[in-house]
Amino acid sequence: MPSSPETENVDERFMCMALELARRGEGWVEPNPMVGCVLVRDGAPIAEGYHRRFGGPHAEIEALGSLSSPADARGSTAYVSLEPCCHTGKTPPCSRALIDAGIARVVVAMSDPFPTVDGGGLRELRDAGIETIVGVCRNEAEQLNAPYLKRVRTGRPWVIAKWAMTIDGRIATAGGESQWITGESARNQVHVLRGRVDAIAIGMGTVEADDPMLTARVAGNPSEIPRIATRVVFCRERFPALDSRLVQSAREVPLILVRGSAENSATKKLETLGVIVIDSGTDDPPVMVDRALEELGRRGMTNVMVEGGGELLASFFAADQIDQCHVFIGPQVFGGRNAPAPVAGDGITRITDAWRLKPVSVDRFDDDVRIVYRKA
Ligand SMILES: NC(=O)c1ccc[n+]([C@@H]2O[C@H](COP(=O)([O-])OP(=O)(O)OC[C@H]3O[C@@H](n4cnc5c(N)ncnc54)[C@H](OP(=O)(O)O)[C@@H]3O)[C@@H](O)[C@H]2O)c1
Repeated sequence: MPSSPETENVDERFMCMALELARRGEGWVEPNPMVGCVLVRDGAPIAEGYHRRFGGPHAEIEALGSLSSPADARGSTAYVSLEPCCHTGKTPPCSRALIDAGIARVVVAMSDPFPTVDGGGLRELRDAGIETIVGVCRNEAEQLNAPYLKRVRTGRPWVIAKWAMTIDGRIATAGGESQWITGESARNQVHVLRGRVDAIAIGMGTVEADDPMLTARVAGNPSEIPRIATRVVFCRERFPALDSRLVQSAREVPLILVRGSAENSATKKLETLGVIVIDSGTDDPPVMVDRALEELGRRGMTNVMVEGGGELLASFFAADQIDQCHVFIGPQVFGGRNAPAPVAGDGITRITDAWRLKPVSVDRFDDDVRIVYRKA
């Protein structure tokens, strides 16, 4: 069928459905991408599916499997939010499954840069005589799978910075108190985020000030927490105390220390308690960040959340590695010239050098507000 404004409109409508389905896999499928699939016949959806769990069936297989008779797929159009795979990984190739099912037309939002796919799935469909269209809702698909795409393209995980501040931009009082800036419902949302990421990073200042656990404690059903995040602490001179809550729980919830270049006997003792030590080989803060991210990417991590404090966040900004910010604003004013702000470090002197982000959503949790930004 030749492409016309009418078919483009129809294609976008069904691709939006596929993208909505894909989103349901968030937190459950990584390091795989989120993928959704809708099968359409005579202008109406006849089946749908999405990749639900890492290692589980892909979206196309879920959709084909939901048909009451496999013959129903013959002659239909498949809308898939990412190029179908063409290799046997944890599951058989989806391109072959679509060909065998007799699909007549395949519309995909974007090709998959994963090295063993990278256009191969589309080629296989075309070679089998299937009409293929690429690029419908490409921007939306790129946004949805931005963390997956960053890891495949750069080897580094997607980095989410999260902080809670007052209306006047303070993360603690001049006296150092920081609990609590936001209310229970905003804090619960932070636990939801923690349950979706692969790692949560903090600096030694926060370890010493707060002695945190950094685990996801979501109100309601714990089975709704898709994954257990590894805790990551950046250390150069100081190391977590043996009786800190992070170290005490290292055998139940993984704890990684990213250390600078100095040899330190403290790390040997920490390793015997189950702590994993990554040697960054440098004391340069942004380089430490970059090397740590490279190593976390190698370990299969897709999303890392940085929860502070100001010095560590400054290093992540200086390394140009903040992809998204979740800024929670509590309805309080602290004032005080010595009360800290979310991002410390040396800062910049010229406005033109500022890191620029784009607001993408605003939501409200009782009296608190969250603004989500993305790298511009
Ligand atoms: N409101 C919020 O959302 C929030 C969140 C987190 C923290 N906080 C508050 O922030 C305060 C702590 O902030 P902070 O800025 O002092 O501490 P921080 O950023 O947590 O830790 C900074 C320390 O981490 C170590 N470090 C190792 N590698 C680093 C690297 N590559 N980049 C930066 N630091 C590195 C350094 O200590 P060594 O060189 O000594 O090892 C550095 O002094 C506390 O009061 C805490 O309660 C508030």
